[in-house]
Amino acid sequence: MPETILVTGGAGYVGSHVAVALVRAGYAPVVLDNYANSTPAVLPRLRALAGYAVPAVQADVRDAEALRTVFRDYPIAAVIHCAGLKAVGESEVRPLAYYDVNVGGAIVLAQVMGEAGVAGLVFSSSASVYGEPDALPIAEDAPLRPHSVYGRTKRVVEDFLCDLARANANWRIALLRYFNPAGADPSGLLGEAARGRPNNLVPLLGKIAAGELADLTVHGGDWPTADGTGVRDYLHVQDLAEGHVAALRYLAGARGALPINLGAGRGHSVLEIVAAFERACGRRIAKTIARRRPGDVAACYADATRAAQLLQWRTTRDLDAICADAWRWQQGGGRY
Ligand code: WQD
Repeated sequence: MPETILVTGGAGYVGSHVAVALVRAGYAPVVLDNYANSTPAVLPRLRALAGYAVPAVQADVRDAEALRTVFRDYPIAAVIHCAGLKAVGESEVRPLAYYDVNVGGAIVLAQVMGEAGVAGLVFSSSASVYGEPDALPIAEDAPLRPHSVYGRTKRVVEDFLCDLARANANWRIALLRYFNPAGADPSGLLGEAARGRPNNLVPLLGKIAAGELADLTVHGGDWPTADGTGVRDYLHVQDLAEGHVAALRYLAGARGALPINLGAGRGHSVLEIVAAFERACGRRIAKTIARRRPGDVAACYADATRAAQLLQWRTTRDLDAICADAWRWQQGGGRY
């Protein structure tokens, strides 16, 4: 019998790709989502792609009774917790919502997992916990100085999960620090369906190439980087999803809570991403170099050694694949 894995936020951008990767790895995912930042329209596509009727429950991860019902209805062996609010800019103007959902939701989930005796947890954390790095590439033992409310909520959850694991040795927790996920399933069936204007660079380029947005405002051309534009560690969302499966496998023989970077281990500048996207779509991306965006850092990319050594995981899809798959998703409408 395949192990049943609860994926909170499983109708979202990362969660839906994780659910497909789980089925392909022989697990039986159950999706839980409140559809606050996603839509049930993803489910038939997810099921078609996975070749399996993935069960889905509409519920809010802060609703303890709803979670208890899920743990009663399904033989949950472990949880992948993707549900949360993730817009950095929005977090600055809605701090209460971000602490309520991201921190409050994780507390309720851990409470119900404890009651159900389920100890395996893969938590969707973020490289934004690092803030401005002292050194590059960034290793997991780098100081945590998040710049944003969003990043601080992720650090609070990491701290509380580490305290939980110290108090009870049964817990097995992977804290996955995502760098910059991008791209989409090559089928064109799943992708990043942002509500309104996308926050992140790669989906923005798709909207500009499709003529839905006019041009790209490059946030800063005077950063201390090779071409003056911001450098980030972009990884394909499928690589990221497979990293969750690898973390689940690792937890089967682990104890405690461990942060693990999920990144390509190298950085690309904004201009390099624009050039790669132009190659993928065969169109020019109009751009204006403007002033820096508050809260941005010059460069941020992962030391991905721990994931390679402990999870036997590394990225396998390159920048051209990210842009080709993101463009294919956009050409299909870029929405559900
Ligand atoms: C990438 C680069 C921008 C838009 C954020 C979160 C992080 C994670 C990923 C959730 C930067 C530049 C962007 C634009 C630009 N989210 N840019 N013009 O800020 O690195 O990371 O999303 O986990 O936690 O912090 O991603 O895609 O916004 O920016 O020049 O219109 O593109 O300055 O250098 P970011 P991003």
